[in-house]
Amino acid sequence: MATSKGTAASASTTEKSSSLQTEILLYLSTNNELNTWSYAKERGLDHQLVVGTIRSIESLGDVIKSEQHTSRSIGLTDEAKGLLRDGSYEYNIFQAIPADKGIEQPQLMKLPNANIGFAKAMSKGWLQVDKSSKPPMVKRKVDTVQDEVQHLLQRIHSLELTDSSAEEVVELKKRKLVEDVTINYFTVTKSAGFSTNISKPETDLTAEMLQSGSWKTANFKPKNFHAKGLLPSYGCLHPLLKVRTEYRQIFLEMGFTEMPTNNFVENSFWNFDALFTPQKHPARDVQDTFFLSDPAVTTKFPEEYLQKVKQVHATGAFGSIGYQYDWQLDETQKNVLRTHTTAVSTRMLYQLAQEKTFRPAKYFSIDKVFRNENLDSTHLAEFNQIEGLIADYNLTLGDLIGVLYQFFRKLGMTKLRFKPAYNPYTEPSMEIFSYHEGLQRWIEVGNSGMFRPEMLLPMGFSEDVSVIAWGLSLERPTMILYGINNIRDLVGPEVDLKMCRRNPICRVIPAKSEE
Ligand code: PHE
Repeated sequence: MATSKGTAASASTTEKSSSLQTEILLYLSTNNELNTWSYAKERGLDHQLVVGTIRSIESLGDVIKSEQHTSRSIGLTDEAKGLLRDGSYEYNIFQAIPADKGIEQPQLMKLPNANIGFAKAMSKGWLQVDKSSKPPMVKRKVDTVQDEVQHLLQRIHSLELTDSSAEEVVELKKRKLVEDVTINYFTVTKSAGFSTNISKPETDLTAEMLQSGSWKTANFKPKNFHAKGLLPSYGCLHPLLKVRTEYRQIFLEMGFTEMPTNNFVENSFWNFDALFTPQKHPARDVQDTFFLSDPAVTTKFPEEYLQKVKQVHATGAFGSIGYQYDWQLDETQKNVLRTHTTAVSTRMLYQLAQEKTFRPAKYFSIDKVFRNENLDSTHLAEFNQIEGLIADYNLTLGDLIGVLYQFFRKLGMTKLRFKPAYNPYTEPSMEIFSYHEGLQRWIEVGNSGMFRPEMLLPMGFSEDVSVIAWGLSLERPTMILYGINNIRDLVGPEVDLKMCRRNPICRVIPAKSEE
């Protein structure tokens, strides 16, 4: 076996892998088998480079076959590699002693690794110490020595010695110069299509090949008809859109009509005043609402209706004493980002009230609203509201409760509880709670109520028309359905787009029908 050092070997480490391909093929043309580990060692090449080259030849077609093996062997530690290069410590100590007169011991001990080197050289009987002189003198006891350690390391390095139980190896292991290693190597043999003259097979049939006729003799890479191919890129719906579709479906099944929600900017009149929300109400504070600076105000309102709204706030009307305060036009003119979709419902109800004869109506909407919230894992400054309303003659709180049971049963929520609440525009008002089987507790799922006469009568409805309504957020059920704990994982710049791809179509649990 060749030794690991040599100019030819070190030159080949810098050769391009294509010329290594040729060399490996030439080797195989005259040898039955190539062992990647010993081949790399013989040629002074990095084993990974040889394995990589074998892989690239294999990718060219049926040229060679390889089989993987593992074996245990021994390898040099980093310290041993230094000794292999520079000689053993004991040998260097011996060499440092002048042959004739010896050397003062303290002087000798200044050499690198002198302690081990000195001890080993002494035990090998290479040295003697004259303690009669001060300081003690170290002298050679023999004329010449062989660096056996370096020689052994060389044999191990060149794979001449691989038996980890050999006596001399055990000794080196104790000195931590040699360690056990596991080697993954390959044996390579010729295959049916073996040739030393391989060219990269053609992957495409080109116009040039057809023109020149070279396609007739070209070596084409076989097509892999089992390859999965690239996944075509495709769009996908965000979970909020999928859940919105489900809610929309439920409303449509129940005979509701969707309201147009295409205005994020609303004025305070439709967002607050028409809803009988007093002008000093905390919801109308900058802390809670985003006001627009440009355009800051709206000046066009249905004048007659505006006057009635003003009256019902300021002095009272339609049987109500109102709030008794100085209602301001400039406050109602202020533009805001709508804080609830009830503003949309209000516009629709006003339109409905303008019709000559009243017709009962069922409306719903699902769209964005904006609030100046402190952001945390469940609150953002914008979210989506789901809202439903029914306008009909003589509706009661019982009708509202009945409709809510019907609606929430379609979402798989059959256990409901209602808690009295307050909204400026509904009386009575109820928060809706549902028992969450997974969480084993009651959770708030929405808000509801019957619109107040102070809201409906100024619009022009007759006294026997009542409107029941409810609202909930879209984000909360979406987070529960998709198991998302932080709203920032659902909305905003930190959303992982892959999450949208991975998530299946949403199925709101279909309730067991009791109808
Ligand atoms: N607008 C209410 C909210 O923002 C929801 C609601 C709608 C309440 C309809 C009662 C009636 O929470």
